Amino acid sequence: MTSQLMPGDQSTILITAGPTREAIDPVRYLTNRSSGKMGYALASTAAEQGHRVILISGPTQLDVPDRVDYIPVETAEEMYQAVEHHIGKANIAIFAAAVADYRPAVVPEQKIKKSAESMTIELVRNPDVLGSVRNTFGYKGILVGFAAETENVETNAREKLTSKGCDLVVANDVSRKDIGFDVNENEILLVFPNTTETPPKDSKQHLAHVILDHALELAAVGNTD
Ligand code: PMT
Repeated sequence: MTSQLMPGDQSTILITAGPTREAIDPVRYLTNRSSGKMGYALASTAAEQGHRVILISGPTQLDVPDRVDYIPVETAEEMYQAVEHHIGKANIAIFAAAVADYRPAVVPEQKIKKSAESMTIELVRNPDVLGSVRNTFGYKGILVGFAAETENVETNAREKLTSKGCDLVVANDVSRKDIGFDVNENEILLVFPNTTETPPKDSKQHLAHVILDHALELAAVGNTD
């Protein structure tokens, strides 16, 4: 960061949210269980606090929060392009979306007909949006990633913190039914380079405040490369 924020200054916060959808054919797609609730809680809280919010979201059933710049996307590739286009305006970026790591290699124009007893769909890698932010897009602001883990939650989150150049990774155990995907509560680990904090299980709305407070504090001290 070249300039430091003073407490109370307005930030521009880019947030990704929701799932992506990767077409198999014109009527079918691959997706995941993300509802968008965590990302939208961050977006609405940040907007209520007076920050400028750019919400880049995959398809959800949620109402778009008031006073956010809403950029709807469907696929990981579209999310990648939207982030590349908008990231330069942000001084804080938070990646809560559940982005598909793979997409079908070939998408036929017509609906796939039922014929053989089994079929195989070849998948190819999608771009890693968060992983491109530092090196490919040259982003210098505060970077907050998420980690959706089913085992070794802290270790895996810490690996993502380092490999993706994050200032903070918010980790959640998505093997649990009571937190994580598509519920109103979450229990998170806040994984910083030198410490890990474990706030108690709470509503996503409340945890959005906790995450934003940390991100704003990091921005205020200019804590990045
Ligand atoms: O939407 P909800 O129902 O409220 O559920 C919330 C949530 C479980 C989706 C959320 O809390 C969460 O964990 N989001 C991250 C989901 C995820 O894809 O995690 P990951 O560990 O696979 O990815 C690590 C990070 O890289 C994430 O910040 C993700 O946004 C990002 N990523 C991943 C793959 C990819 N191709 N591009 C990315 O940017």
